[in-house]
Amino acid sequence: MSMSKCQQLSSALFKQQGSFRMMSSWWSNVQQGPPDAILGVTEAFKRDKNPQKINLGVGAYRDDNGNPYVLPSVIQAEHNIMKKNLNKEYAPINGIAEFCTESIKLALSDNSPIVKNKCYASVQSISGTGALRVGGEFLQRYAPLKTIWVPIPTWGNHGQIFKFSGLEVKTYRYYDPKTCGLDFSGMIEDLSSAPTGSVILLHACAHNPTGVDPKPEQWKELSDLLKKKKLFPFFDMAYQGFASGNVDHDALAVHTFLLDGHQIALAQSFAKNMGLYGERVGMFTLTSLDTEEAERIMSQLKIVVRGMYSNPPIHGARLVSEILSNSQLKNQWMVEVKGMANRIISVRNKLKELLAKEGSTRNWNHITDQIGMFCYTGLEKDHVKKLIEEHSIYLTNDGRISMAGVTSKNVGYLASAMHKVTS
Ligand code: LMR
Repeated sequence: MSMSKCQQLSSALFKQQGSFRMMSSWWSNVQQGPPDAILGVTEAFKRDKNPQKINLGVGAYRDDNGNPYVLPSVIQAEHNIMKKNLNKEYAPINGIAEFCTESIKLALSDNSPIVKNKCYASVQSISGTGALRVGGEFLQRYAPLKTIWVPIPTWGNHGQIFKFSGLEVKTYRYYDPKTCGLDFSGMIEDLSSAPTGSVILLHACAHNPTGVDPKPEQWKELSDLLKKKKLFPFFDMAYQGFASGNVDHDALAVHTFLLDGHQIALAQSFAKNMGLYGERVGMFTLTSLDTEEAERIMSQLKIVVRGMYSNPPIHGARLVSEILSNSQLKNQWMVEVKGMANRIISVRNKLKELLAKEGSTRNWNHITDQIGMFCYTGLEKDHVKKLIEEHSIYLTNDGRISMAGVTSKNVGYLASAMHKVTS
């Protein structure tokens, strides 16, 4: 076995000094941290030698052969960009202008008066996480109350992103384990108790991890409540297109709030809907009352970005703007998003059907009632443990499975294992 660099150094020291004196390290106070609740699952999956293993941990789309999927529209965009012979200069601090314009139009619609009147400040971000982090930093500096309310449960990274931004994180009820659906009355009750000026984090569509979204009329009620209570909505829209297969439909919550006159914060990601996971491309936006305010906000967002990472990477943003600004490519992309959403819907149906065929008498209706990339199965910790240890099926501890990792080939194995661990 080859020696690591620090072993080589120690042995050189030993030879030099004839003895090896242990010095105390600068980092002896550093404790071993826990593996990440989501990405740690992939690490464990990679170590497993079982050929039947399935990774349903991380939310990353797979085709029906279980392989990562590079969208044909993205491949075409790469060709188009190559032909342009672009340079590799720094992007501006706030990112590539065309990308930002196309992105905001996608979220708010081409006809949005906010877009037309330039009543917004947008900065390209390091995917959705970066958008939330930049937003968190801005709110920590300028929001009247440095408190953000997140649903229970929420994406495993939300809490630490906002904590690291210096915000206090509070929670509101969202999911009802008894119905595997929305606890709307609990949500309304908790949000009604939030002090004026609080920031409310809302999943715009395809709630992660539950796959449970409010209905259009419930979004309207939430919009009215937040307005009445003077609460500030911060939308995390990481799955536009993935919930229904239609990007406009999935932006309904955002549109409802804007029509009601809210100012909003918005985090966008192109990881899922364009399959640009590793390109890390997203955007953070604040809407403003007028252009002058937008400019002031932008000046401060640029200060935040400059202090964190100077300016964003260019390639992913070029791909997104190439797709969104070319109507033919955009139409192609929308068909591809729908294709991904439809494949997930079809494996949801198949999984439910096969669980019944296996003889499971549990109610699995939520598998098809929930939408988007994830199914919050209701499996408990000991079920999850058995799925991992006895069947090499990897999922997060909370019983969330990424439906995007289920295929027509592995759904039978999954159904049989789920039935075995729950019988
Ligand atoms: C997920 O929830 O699995 C994805 O959003 C990936 C991630 O970074 O957690």
